[in-house]
Amino acid sequence: IRDDPQTASKYIADYVIERINTFAPTPQKPFVLGLPTGSSPVLIYKSLVQRHKAGEISFRNVITFNMDEYVGIPREHPESYHSFMYKHFFSHVDVDPANINILNGNAPDLEAECIAYEEKIKKVGGIELFLGGIGPDGHIAFNEPGSSLKSRTRVKTLAYDTIIANSRFFGNDLSQVPRMALTVGVQTILDAREVVIIITGAHKALALQKCIEGGVNHMWTLSSLQLHPHPLIVVDEDATLEL
Ligand code: GLP
Repeated sequence: IRDDPQTASKYIADYVIERINTFAPTPQKPFVLGLPTGSSPVLIYKSLVQRHKAGEISFRNVITFNMDEYVGIPREHPESYHSFMYKHFFSHVDVDPANINILNGNAPDLEAECIAYEEKIKKVGGIELFLGGIGPDGHIAFNEPGSSLKSRTRVKTLAYDTIIANSRFFGNDLSQVPRMALTVGVQTILDAREVVIIITGAHKALALQKCIEGGVNHMWTLSSLQLHPHPLIVVDEDATLEL
């Protein structure tokens, strides 16, 4: 628990840097990092970029896999997760573009795209550290309430609550928010050797309480982390209101 979103984000950035530097990735032994979008990780990316510019961390031998992507908006749309990642992170660090993996929400065969994504993750030896956030309903990536805890990368219809929550990025116009997304599954996340989650703000306090003090439950998909051997949840004071 940290005082505010700034210190929580800095804690995670420091943690990720420490993990990558200790791992000492090489082209033969790259570090495989799972990455999120949303407003919560913005400060983490800012901190990672600053530390990169200060010469304290290189992403050259890091392979990234993003959690999710909207279906049906162009890749170049300012609110696509592809655009988000370049704007906040990829354009500012030394990651090799060939090592960046983001689901293609415009693939002609979405199911095949999801299967290929899982294969790619397997081929590089699995994800070392998956960084994530949650929605106010406790969803992780786009694993909305009711998702199977054994789920893998797939097409998902967004919950109405998520459409409302994300409408702020689309001029508060619900009709502009995509209805579907591609997302890694709960099991895809649980397969990572380590999972690090940021949760900030009073609007996520109920979700935090349900996910860590309640039972493992597919209606609050972050609760699945209780089954993970190496989870880390970093929160600010506001998020602890219901604990
Ligand atoms: C979306 C993303 C999630 C993210 C969530 C919370 O639903 N698919 O990965 O955790 O938004 O976003 P924010 O941090 O903006 O609250």
